[in-house]
Amino acid sequence: MAKSITRNMKILILGSGGREHALAWKIAQSPLVDEVYSAPGNPGMDKLGPCFDLDITDLKAVQELALQLHPDLIIIGPEAPLAAGASDALRARGFDVFGPSQQAAQLESSKGFAKDLMQKYGVPTAAYGRFSDLTEALDFLETMEAPYVIKADGLAAGKGVVIAETLEDAENTVEEMMTGKFGDASAEIVIEEFMEGEEASIFVMTDGEGAIYLPVAQDHKRVGDGDTGPNTGGMGAYAPASVVNARTLELVQTTIVEPMLSGMAEDEMPYQGVLYVGIMVTEAGPKVVEFNARFGDPECQVLMAGLPGDIVPALLVCATGGLTTAHSELCDMMGLSDFRPSAVVVMAANGYPGTAEKGTVIRGLEIAEAIEGVMVFQAGTDVNEKNELIAAGGRVLGVTATGNDLKAAIANAYKGVAAIDWPGGFYRKDIGHRILK
Ligand code: AMP
Ligand code: GLY
Repeated sequence: MAKSITRNMKILILGSGGREHALAWKIAQSPLVDEVYSAPGNPGMDKLGPCFDLDITDLKAVQELALQLHPDLIIIGPEAPLAAGASDALRARGFDVFGPSQQAAQLESSKGFAKDLMQKYGVPTAAYGRFSDLTEALDFLETMEAPYVIKADGLAAGKGVVIAETLEDAENTVEEMMTGKFGDASAEIVIEEFMEGEEASIFVMTDGEGAIYLPVAQDHKRVGDGDTGPNTGGMGAYAPASVVNARTLELVQTTIVEPMLSGMAEDEMPYQGVLYVGIMVTEAGPKVVEFNARFGDPECQVLMAGLPGDIVPALLVCATGGLTTAHSELCDMMGLSDFRPSAVVVMAANGYPGTAEKGTVIRGLEIAEAIEGVMVFQAGTDVNEKNELIAAGGRVLGVTATGNDLKAAIANAYKGVAAIDWPGGFYRKDIGHRILK
């Protein structure tokens, strides 16, 4: 292996969501790891190792923490520090980092950048136009057919995509976005063709050259049962998702992932970390809906729960290079071929995805976690002065479970949910409905 895997490792995770709690939980089980540090972390991560309160988009503060802790590997969980250039800042100080450079992370932080690269490398995606001029954008709309897909170019906390049914709604959306709805993030927009099909999330761990494909996951983005109501960050997920069959996966590899990785390497912006490929499985094959520069949340929770082996060697090799040579050994260490079916049900605070109610007390986590195969990953949680766990964000808990098959995994996750006593929260009751049918 390019970099020999050492023992007694110290690993620092940046982030404070369910995704980062799941990563910390998985990493803490590795026999190679002595310490898991989190910044800023959450009450769940605090049980696994020390947490450091920090603004993780403040590059100087992140560098200082790393210089103080000297971790053997730093994992960047969310998009904001990636877009701010945290990987580059840490690599510049000699640290090994799992997470793409600021330039490569533009795949997520600029939809226009991602579309232009896909076009350049011939990757299948919806036809599009990219605009910073309102009149040109409105003229382009006239050439498209309903429904209209309008996207803010920059990061807009998952709210920057509007699907408008009529030309009038589309025109209003374009005007709103380009006149400051999301500030700079929507000064430029992308208008694209609507794609018909079922969505899936593909996660590829890469050192910029080699690629490990994790089991395909499916997220549930809408807030309400039956996929109704506004979009959220994700209300539940499961893996493996059968919507992507072997033939589709092969097309994802050959027409999407391989051209993106080799194109970006040739263009001197190699992509290192995890590439999240959001695809639409259309009649014409898989097409890219979006790229993200990080693990999905809550998809990460099911991937970590279902992997029986050690993910640390693969994370380290992605950060340092040599994945092509070590590929099969790393997949074996991770236990990829023995992946356990898993599901997560997100519990959110009342009001989410609008203004979420904060401060309500949550009980019963220990009861849920005592159920065979159930893990509760924390996201927007805090503790009050009485040391009780309280809600402090929109998505609060990710009740995650494995099972012998997906049906059992989903049933176990709901057993965990039933054990939690939290009148201030709600959850979807139909996670996995597409496969349970
Ligand atoms: P994005 O943030 O780009 O993933 O978009 C959010 C959601 O909007 C996606 O998960 C899809 O459900 C939907 N969406 C985005 N682009 C398209 C498209 N071109 N056709 C159909 N649905 C889309
Ligand atoms: N679950 C969707 C995302 O992480 O973007």
